[in-house]
Amino acid sequence: MAGPDSLRWRPRAAGRQDWASWPHYDAAGNGFPGYWYPVTWGSHIDGTPRAFTICGERLVLLRDGGKVYALHDRCPHRGVPLSEGDQQFPGTISCPYHGWTYRLSDGKLCAVITDGPDSPICGKVTVRTYPVAERLGLVWVYVPIADERPHPIDEQLPEELVGNRFVVGGRIEPRRGNWRFACENGFDEGHAKYLHRTSLWRLFKPMPTWNVTSVIGDGRWIYRVQDEVHWEADFPGVGRWSNQRWWKRRPPKETFNIGNTGKPKKIDPTIAAQEFAGFASLSMPGVLRIVYPKFIHYEFYVPVDQGEHRYVGLMVNFTAGWKALGFYLKYLGGVRWLFHGQFSGQDAWMVEVTDAPPERLYRPDVSLTAWRNLAEREFTAKLEVHGCASS
Ligand code: FES
Repeated sequence: MAGPDSLRWRPRAAGRQDWASWPHYDAAGNGFPGYWYPVTWGSHIDGTPRAFTICGERLVLLRDGGKVYALHDRCPHRGVPLSEGDQQFPGTISCPYHGWTYRLSDGKLCAVITDGPDSPICGKVTVRTYPVAERLGLVWVYVPIADERPHPIDEQLPEELVGNRFVVGGRIEPRRGNWRFACENGFDEGHAKYLHRTSLWRLFKPMPTWNVTSVIGDGRWIYRVQDEVHWEADFPGVGRWSNQRWWKRRPPKETFNIGNTGKPKKIDPTIAAQEFAGFASLSMPGVLRIVYPKFIHYEFYVPVDQGEHRYVGLMVNFTAGWKALGFYLKYLGGVRWLFHGQFSGQDAWMVEVTDAPPERLYRPDVSLTAWRNLAEREFTAKLEVHGCASS
């Protein structure tokens, strides 16, 4: 695993105006294939076909026999979306135009309502299908690289979300702006205290002060330089320490409990900033994870196409029973509006109007370049595994 040195600020990225240092990232306007993506709440998918676009792929989702299926949302006959059709027979979906009917399990054309049961074209046409899983109350779809088999979804999820009991409050929204701008905004050190200075959420949770510049009472400026982004093996992706008071490390000094999971995490004692331990990280394929003492906040930035993404924001509390109910009521009663509404709306605004490259970077943008380095390195390694490193 790469150490912190590999993610330090690099002169080659300083002040760049293009994204030539990150060619795969530059080309990933529609997202990276080879990952599971959360699409919508499981409770929103029933026997009525619904259309979504993920990573530029048009999908139709529907539930049959309790299981969710995902197919390419295009009838091969004349290109009509299958999401406009319905279910004429169990285990199938029928196109509304001429009744071509496809098996949900493998996408094979199995009946043609307008050409009789012995239509010779049956079995000769197939619609692409996608692997589907349900976790955290969400429907996840795997977008493969070529014809690869998906890796298990539990290998991709943050480990604390596998095998623990928890309660989830969350919001899903289609949003304008490319998914990369959403990732970069979520992990952007320079924006938190400035863009969100008018958010009410700040009254309850002061903003992280990564690389903060602040003006104190007598007009002097305080500048705290932490120009490194650390790879920490116990956390996913790239991350930075924050100096928030409530994130202070608790004894014993080598461990502290994150997000109320009760599972101590090892901390590298050589990192001075851990005197004020707290953690925000960003991992592939676009998952922001911010640890608070009593919950962990996740944002999944799901690629739709060049101009849109889906925002999937979750607050997860690792409790059960009455405590879980209390957390959920608190979420519905205030946090949902304060954070997933007003605060997150400020982010959505910036993501929508960002237009880069070209760009001119400054020092706090080390978080952006560290994320791009991570994405570039991880996707390159993935392509090498699939024997298509040059693609
Ligand atoms: Fe789908 Fe004709 S376009 S059956």
